[in-house]
Amino acid sequence: MEQTLVILKPNAIQRGLVGELILRFERRGMKITAMKMMLITRQLAEEHYRTHRGREFYKDLITFITSGPSVIMILESPGAVSIVRTTVGATDPAEADPGSIRGDFATSPGHNMIHASDSPESAQREIALFFDPGEIQDYTLSVRPWL
Ligand code: RTP
Ligand code: MG
Repeated sequence: MEQTLVILKPNAIQRGLVGELILRFERRGMKITAMKMMLITRQLAEEHYRTHRGREFYKDLITFITSGPSVIMILESPGAVSIVRTTVGATDPAEADPGSIRGDFATSPGHNMIHASDSPESAQREIALFFDPGEIQDYTLSVRPWL
């Protein structure tokens, strides 16, 4: 089963949208196998976004993601990475389809509400950064037993 990592960024918490955003993934039919709220440290943020080091938006990105608590989740389904990326929408909310999270709730690329892994390989790297194996739940969803 494919896994992906989602971060509800600090503005999602500030705007009271945590429940709304989690609902989108539950309604889509995905399985949540881990979830926690944490203040992401600068060190963790720099490791998570290491591929963006040197980009013009990097400093603002690190400042923003460490500015307040975030909610971190692991979601599972067949094709989880693609399913979550389409549910989230384009990086720049100006290009995100209506009905996607960024298309419905965001206006600026720097404050685009949510992070989602961009490949199964990135997902595994990011999951290992944010979760110990003991924090991940192994269970069967009785309504969707294939998950
Ligand atoms: P994410 O990693 O957060 O899920 O977003 P993404 O894959 O859609 O976009 P990515 O290219 O990985 O960029 C990471 C985050 O950097 C910020 N960003 N700002 N032009 C800009 O100001 C700009 N471009 C990227 C966004 O917050 C983006 O989510
Ligand atoms: Mg990305």
